[in-house]
Amino acid sequence: MLWNNELTRLLKVQYPIVQAPMLGVTSPEMVAAVSNAGGLGSLPVGGLSPEKTRELIHKVKQLTHKPFAVNLFAHSIPEYNIQEAEAMRALLKQLKQEHGLATEIPELDSLKFYTYEEQIPILIDESVPVVSFTFGIPDDASLQQLKQHGTILIGTATCVDEAIVLEQKGVHAITLQGIEAGGHRGSFLHDALPQIGLMALVPMAAKVVKIPLIASGAINSGATVKAAFTLGAVGVQIGTAFIASTESLAIPAYKEALATAQDTDTALTQVFSGRWARGIHNAFMEQLENSGSTLPPYPVLNSLTGALRAEAQKQNNGTFTNLWAGQAASMYVRQKNSAEILMDIIKNTEQ
Ligand SMILES: Cc1cc2nc3c(=O)[nH]c(=O)nc-3n(C[C@H](O)[C@H](O)[C@H](O)COP(=O)(O)O)c2cc1C
Repeated sequence: MLWNNELTRLLKVQYPIVQAPMLGVTSPEMVAAVSNAGGLGSLPVGGLSPEKTRELIHKVKQLTHKPFAVNLFAHSIPEYNIQEAEAMRALLKQLKQEHGLATEIPELDSLKFYTYEEQIPILIDESVPVVSFTFGIPDDASLQQLKQHGTILIGTATCVDEAIVLEQKGVHAITLQGIEAGGHRGSFLHDALPQIGLMALVPMAAKVVKIPLIASGAINSGATVKAAFTLGAVGVQIGTAFIASTESLAIPAYKEALATAQDTDTALTQVFSGRWARGIHNAFMEQLENSGSTLPPYPVLNSLTGALRAEAQKQNNGTFTNLWAGQAASMYVRQKNSAEILMDIIKNTEQ
């Protein structure tokens, strides 16, 4: 298999393989390990403060001189119904007491939402080589500023329409996120969630879009990499396969749940954050979904559940935190370092 193609030339990497940005799981060490091994590491900073964003970029830069991506959440902050949000706070307080999670659910007026607009000057200042984004498209001025600075832009699409809009906006490449993928859905164009499998999405997008396409969702082996290329992608983005790596921030209970997950164990849910995301089904999902409560929108619900999830993680309790994972969760669970995981997939593809 020849790896050199239009995407490796665009990104200036050896292999057209992107380690998916995974907020809460990806550490600077993971990003650097993948970039140093010839792939593209991606640092997730969606919703983080400008200070934290800069600190994490500095950490990556200390560990690698190779290209890496920084990943933004390109959404706007919505209006929300205070009464519904207070009702959700009350429910979360009740759950934390019932489940021995000693933490405070934040007051609504203490919530602080950072926007991608606050992060763009830092990305420019730090000359980040690649910026990827999900949940939408940054405004035209931000895109222009980044492009003028020579930044390579990668958008996320979950259906053909979204890929067309991204190409029209002038991004350099598109990550196509199939419905198999773990974590949040990047969807931004339609009210009803697009649920297109990667097998359908890649060839349909390749027919109408000219820029490089990166396939994402359930890719973890030579066979799946080759399938993505055969369908029309020129790169792949891999998430779940890196969750059990030694550089991962995932708690042991999360890694154990991945190892035993069946194909039917993941589900799409909005209850952790207010946005659709795929994770291993657990007690929190069940209780919130059965509560009949109205869910405040993202990022309000995300912030309200944040402290409870952090406390569950401290206790290594996988039943009350999000266990984001793709449908093929257990196909590749290796407690190896991220470079070895990347090289395993590369060697397996070359065989
Ligand atoms: C734990 C986890 C966290 C994720 N966080 C992000 C994120 O911060 N930004 C993003 O663009 N995608 C995020 N994703 C989605 C990935 O970019 C990618 O679409 C997905 O991992 C691909 O499917 P796979 O997990 O089956 O490999 C996340 C996925 C996982 C599993």
